[in-house]
Amino acid sequence: MKVVAVINQKGGVGKTTTTANLCHALAQIGYKVTAIDFDPQGQLAISLGVTAPDIGGIDDAMLDKKTAIQQVIRVRNNLALVPAGSRLKDIEQLLDCSKPKGLVLKTALGTYFADQDYVFIDCPPSSGFLIANALVAADQILVPMTGDFLSLQGLSHLMGTIRRFEKALKRKYKMAIVISRFASTRRMAKQVLNIVLTHFPKQVLATIIREASALAECPSFGQTILEYSPNSRPASDFRDLAEDFLKDRVMIYGNE
Ligand SMILES: Nc1ncnc2c1ncn2[C@@H]1O[C@H](COP(=O)(O)OP(=O)(O)O)[C@@H](O)[C@H]1O
Ligand SMILES: [Mg+2]
Repeated sequence: MKVVAVINQKGGVGKTTTTANLCHALAQIGYKVTAIDFDPQGQLAISLGVTAPDIGGIDDAMLDKKTAIQQVIRVRNNLALVPAGSRLKDIEQLLDCSKPKGLVLKTALGTYFADQDYVFIDCPPSSGFLIANALVAADQILVPMTGDFLSLQGLSHLMGTIRRFEKALKRKYKMAIVISRFASTRRMAKQVLNIVLTHFPKQVLATIIREASALAECPSFGQTILEYSPNSRPASDFRDLAEDFLKDRVMIYGNE
């Protein structure tokens, strides 16, 4: 079992979209996947069609009110969801302060998910407590980023955070970048992509997720793109991305 944190402190870069669709693509291949909605806004749950109000989630597991496995909702074949829960936004204040603060998520996950191939954590767009907990729990990091200049700046900030954690935890993460929400018609996007490829030559996954209105529409139906429009280009992009993720297929500079 590998824990994958989908992380980028910038909002709107495609973390939730990537988590929902990549997890579903992996599940369709046959991998057992659990996705944790670790953003108090709860948009991963909505994207997967879970809209019940006031459902508990990872919040209650972190507060020791429930076990993480009790919070699991089966959402598709091979795909399970742990919702965020309404207390996730205040979790830092609600926790028993005698506990080590960075270990709360890792402790709550325990060994419950040992039978899963992947546990994905859809992180919130902020730094601080939740991100620290996601990084402590994670084995791998997946960073969605768009093709704009500010996204590039955010990436260098994020790399600084990741390095600090690597140093403190005395370990190295496996890290991959997903180019998401890519507007191939914008010159800026190509320039940004080239800069990212120069700095991270073997870490950008081969498939680019382009801007596509269907990807923005499908969460309103509680469907992934693989259900909403299975024969569309973004659906095949996500199926390809799943293969990239599994086989470490990366983009080569000049071939993109
Ligand atoms: N490739 C894409 N094409 C079009 N819209 C997208 C794409 N990826 C994400 N979106 C939309 O952009 C918004 C932000 O994406 P989201 O995945 O929620 O980002 P994050 O989780 O990083 O905040 C959402 O409305 C989403 O539907
Ligand atoms: Mg999100």
